[in-house]
Amino acid sequence: MSHQDKGLNLEVSSGRQCRIQKVVLAYKYRGAGYLWHKSMRRALERWPSLKRRVLYADPRHYWTLRGGPEYLAEQEGQKARTARSNWLAHRIADCKPMSILEVGCGYGKQIANIRRIVGDVVQITGIDFSLSQLSLAQAHLRSDDNVFLIHGSGDRLPFADHSFDLVLTSAVILHNPPEIADKIRQEVLRVARCWCVHNEDTDTTYNRFGYDTAAWYQARGLNRVDSSKIPVEVFAESDDPAGESERSQFCLVDLR
Ligand SMILES: C[S@@+](CC[C@H](N)C(=O)[O-])C[C@H]1O[C@@H](n2cnc3c(N)ncnc32)[C@H](O)[C@@H]1O
Repeated sequence: MSHQDKGLNLEVSSGRQCRIQKVVLAYKYRGAGYLWHKSMRRALERWPSLKRRVLYADPRHYWTLRGGPEYLAEQEGQKARTARSNWLAHRIADCKPMSILEVGCGYGKQIANIRRIVGDVVQITGIDFSLSQLSLAQAHLRSDDNVFLIHGSGDRLPFADHSFDLVLTSAVILHNPPEIADKIRQEVLRVARCWCVHNEDTDTTYNRFGYDTAAWYQARGLNRVDSSKIPVEVFAESDDPAGESERSQFCLVDLR
């Protein structure tokens, strides 16, 4: 065996060692259910409808297993996600709300971006049904005294009618089956005072249901609805800017 081959062998075995270490750590910190879930996500890649039945029967369970440091690193590694989040934060700041609720706030990426633009005085509340996502949000936003994080479900919001100037969902309704998606929209509309804002892609995958959120509002006689695709330039850092823009939907409903 040449020195070069030996070097390659060492690399292969250290790569394997590294994978084994990752598996051991994942087992130790997240348990067997997490490992099973992760391996099934890969194994069922080519069978989206089976994948939906096996892995997405209970969205809350899915997001509890999906959330965590690995998911955060994966998302933060995608520059187009950050660009979209910044773009959305500016659209929200343009409304000049004094209180904001984000339904499905995840690990707090969108809240942190909104905060950077709107300043400290705006009160921001986040709610999410995944404790793994929410605990990362708590860490991510711990220095922010004007952020309130709540564990709960978007289809039963624990707030009085018209509690927030602006209510936002970003990549949340699309992850819920039709009956729940409908309840979330009704709840958003109930607790919002001035604006409902949605960034909800319209494509269908194993964990996305593909909705036209703007049409839902229009069908209810709300006609001050601004709906557009997110500009293609926002996705410049993505592998597929045109596709990302095409399947996006930004929807702003003015209730005033
Ligand atoms: C793709 S992440 C988006 C997170 C965040 N909105 C953002 O844009 O960065 C979807 C989040 O919505 C949450 N979620 C989905 N359906 C929900 C529901 N019915 N009630 C509460 N949270 C929900 C998930 O737990 C997950 O954290």
